[in-house]
Amino acid sequence: MDGNGRWAKQRGLPRIEGHRRGVETVRTVTFAARDLGVRMLTLYAFSVENWKRPQDEVGALMGLLEFYLKKELETFVRDRVRLRTIGRTQDLPAGVQKLLRTAIEETRHFTDYTLVLALNYGARTEAVDAARAYAAAVAAGTEKLNDDSWETFSRYLYTTGLPDPDLIIRTSGETRISNFLLLQAAYAEFVFTPVLWPDFGKPELAAAIAEYARRERRFGQTGDQVKPAAVQRP
Ligand code: FPP
Repeated sequence: MDGNGRWAKQRGLPRIEGHRRGVETVRTVTFAARDLGVRMLTLYAFSVENWKRPQDEVGALMGLLEFYLKKELETFVRDRVRLRTIGRTQDLPAGVQKLLRTAIEETRHFTDYTLVLALNYGARTEAVDAARAYAAAVAAGTEKLNDDSWETFSRYLYTTGLPDPDLIIRTSGETRISNFLLLQAAYAEFVFTPVLWPDFGKPELAAAIAEYARRERRFGQTGDQVKPAAVQRP
């Protein structure tokens, strides 16, 4: 969700105005994705590196997150949106953590659509946390050190139980991955759009999905292997 700051700057507004508009886009895109048949949407809302921003911007982002969670809980329940988080949420302000716990608990039984908020998230931090948890499980005797399968190790990532992303979209013209889902993105398709996050909406999301649909995903196989079988004519 990149480009909030630039969106505000272009209009002579403070950066936080861009973030405020960014929250509106979060609401729009959450429901646009569901309308377009997406079953799971992950939003990179706050990275472990974002704490390095000016203190007033960090404070304002946490405030916006709190406002958003308070406002959206009712909508999540009404519209059957399951909320999950990935990241070191234990280091977020206590008020945000409490709202997250409530929203996650009250929506945990929904199965059709999941919104995942990446909060205080970093893929390298996730790898460290997973390695530590895996080592503890080996020490406790619940995992075997010679089990070298990805299936086993990936259960220790924050994303346990969630599918890998099929499509990753980055807005605002930046073409970096910036420590986002590095392991889970192994076979993801990427769409980079110049549109700034506050201007991103359903048409832009639909265009990204259409672009994704044109790609051939081979997962290490040849093009011939993954081509759908030719239609047999009678
Ligand atoms: C990137 O734009 C955006 C962020 C670091 C924060 C995104 C957060 C929100 C939209 C609000 C809180 C989230 C939720 C889910 C309610 P930038 O500031 O890096 O923009 P720039 O690159 O143009 O400066």
